[in-house]
Amino acid sequence: MINKQGDYFFISTKRTSYVIKILDTGHVSHFSYGVRIDSFEKGLELIHEGFDINIGCGTYYDEDHPMMFMDNLAMEYGTVGKGDSREPALEVRYGGGMSVLDLVYHGHRIFKGKNEDFLPCALSDEENVESLEIVLKDKLLDVFVHLFYSAYEDEDVILRSARIENLMDDVVVLENVSSMMLDLPDSDWELLSFDGAWARERYVTRRPLSPGVIVIDSKLGCSSSEHNSLVYLVRKETSSDSGEAIALNLIYSGNHSERIEVSPFSKTRVLTGINPFNFSWTLEKGGSFATPEAILTYSPNGWNDAALNFHSFIRKYIIRGNWKDRLRPVLINNWEATYFNFTEERLLALASEAKDLGVELFVLDDGWFGRRVDDRSGLGDWICNRTRLPDGLEGLGRKLHSMGLLFGLWVEPEMVNENSALFEKHPDWRISIPGRTPSVGRHQYILDLSRREVVDYLYSALCEAFSLGDVDYVKWDMNRTMSDYFSLSNDCSGMGGFFHRYILGLYELLSKITKRFPDILFESCSAGGNRYDLGMLCFMPQTWTSDNTDIHHRISIQEGTLMGYPQSTMGSHVSASPGHQSLRKSGIESRFNVACWGAFGYELDLTKLCAEDLEAIRGQIAFYKKYRNVLQNGKFRKISSRDDNLVFWSSTLDKTTIVLEYQAFNRPNTGFQDKLRLPFLDRSKCYRISNRNQIIRKEDLGDIFSSYGKGVSEEWTAVVSGRLLCDYGILLGPQFTGNGVFETTRILGDFGSRLYIIEEMD
Ligand code: DGJ
Repeated sequence: MINKQGDYFFISTKRTSYVIKILDTGHVSHFSYGVRIDSFEKGLELIHEGFDINIGCGTYYDEDHPMMFMDNLAMEYGTVGKGDSREPALEVRYGGGMSVLDLVYHGHRIFKGKNEDFLPCALSDEENVESLEIVLKDKLLDVFVHLFYSAYEDEDVILRSARIENLMDDVVVLENVSSMMLDLPDSDWELLSFDGAWARERYVTRRPLSPGVIVIDSKLGCSSSEHNSLVYLVRKETSSDSGEAIALNLIYSGNHSERIEVSPFSKTRVLTGINPFNFSWTLEKGGSFATPEAILTYSPNGWNDAALNFHSFIRKYIIRGNWKDRLRPVLINNWEATYFNFTEERLLALASEAKDLGVELFVLDDGWFGRRVDDRSGLGDWICNRTRLPDGLEGLGRKLHSMGLLFGLWVEPEMVNENSALFEKHPDWRISIPGRTPSVGRHQYILDLSRREVVDYLYSALCEAFSLGDVDYVKWDMNRTMSDYFSLSNDCSGMGGFFHRYILGLYELLSKITKRFPDILFESCSAGGNRYDLGMLCFMPQTWTSDNTDIHHRISIQEGTLMGYPQSTMGSHVSASPGHQSLRKSGIESRFNVACWGAFGYELDLTKLCAEDLEAIRGQIAFYKKYRNVLQNGKFRKISSRDDNLVFWSSTLDKTTIVLEYQAFNRPNTGFQDKLRLPFLDRSKCYRISNRNQIIRKEDLGDIFSSYGKGVSEEWTAVVSGRLLCDYGILLGPQFTGNGVFETTRILGDFGSRLYIIEEMD
């Protein structure tokens, strides 16, 4: 709901309100963001510290407003040159070098649904979404800024974006354009960011704010695994289920920048948008520039609720197409099973074993095309290598389909190897700078997607491959980041916009190809999770989370990812032990227990496993299929535990909750039992709890267990009242801690885990 009362705009969702005030000078100021305020309530002015605090020798607006210090005002969209020295939302150049803008209220409109200036953008919904457009104009120049706010009522999400319009005769060069700015009245916040690198994506970093600017960004040409565009501000005391949390994210796949600044007056400014690094965009007279959209949410009850708001928003308004609400198939991917070393015979043997165990989709990864026999050649030539696949993609597709499997195919369209037919024909399609030797990543180069002919070539080559194979699923990879940024094309003026133009070319290609193949399930990938963002998710409903499938590392990677993105978007596989990224040994059952929290599959050579592991996998797939909807689409929550050694996750859909208990290290003689408390359940109900019946192999446990008499499984069931589960928590039974083995002893060991199924009873 959005309304204007006097000088105030109230942008409200079910549980939150974002309030804006127009000052008597016309400046559009931020008033508050937090729990819902229905409309102008008595004393509203008293929740805000006011707009007239003298800050000593600071610059005040003019002689008529000696108490108006821009440097200490909460603004909606900051510019430079009128006393505000904080990071600006907008920086421009005009008139031979001037940059000052003084934006004031010019008009507004409130409307059902939302605008769609920049694509990709969130979907609209006339019932649930209402929008506000505030138009700002510079006091002197015909430069306009349109600020958009869309309230997603049920999700408690506010969508923000901006459009800059130049109606002057002179050109305006944009050098920094944020999608949103949020000025908060204090600085008692801590920042959660999601940082890492290849194989350790989106690890949570928590740090207190202090005076100065923190920049979370990417300069790599993609959203990157170094810093995700998701950030949270939380109070010192905030945990998963209590305390204030504000979260924001950007719907964009290129260079982004989140700047968090604490001013000398202990105010916090938060900005997100396209990274100003290497960015400039020229607006001729009449030209306009639309920013990507940003999303914002607030929770007074910890970060689980903020994440759940984003999850539900992403499921409804970011994911689209025929796979939006469909359950994702269980897949087998041949990459870690064979790498480049495969024949059709070997692939079919893997497929046949997988099918027998219950797998639904076979994915042929890298190495099926052109001269690709290793990672030094072939990228760019999307034609089947018939030495490896004698019957072509069509033959392999037919054979897999006749086995009752779906057929998935890997591609990496944005890349080219020097050793390829495409490079020999079009060397200038590679991104490079004349006279400089371009830098390399994984022996490959990036194609210049800012050029139409490159996008057109890729579209037709991919259409042919996907049609020939009658492909059901595509894994779209991107294995290096950008260097030597420049376009050799004549029509690509304004090289400061190269990064952005590349992303626009990519989006155009994705848009065309996903429209042409609406039934294909697309999974985006970038050397694992190097491009896990909301822009890609607008085209592809799932993302390969990380090449690292190590059980322990995945706890951190998935936990970080799930703070911004729902389980159905998160590709998650069981692979071999010892793990190919960590050399860690872990049990097949525990690997499943951690991997099943997303779009699930296997990525190991099933033909080499022992009979017991195969039986375990058969049981896992049956379990996953039974609870797939809960695991992919349930409400995910991290549950607090005694310490970081023990992790609990839960996912709830209708009357069913699945819980993961994961233990990093077995500890000696602890003298306590692990406890499970689920504060979100219904206190008035009763619940039946049981554990997934997983295979425990005595031979994995060592000599001390030779007399362990319980057989190979550990079954447990209990009926517990909701009140006890919510308010007290229940004990899960003593673990083996070195003090002997008894009938009730549970054996988790290092990197051990259990799954529990909790059903609400009638
Ligand atoms: C990187 C991906 O993350 C892997 O899963 C695999 O597809 C390789 N690329 C293939 O080159």
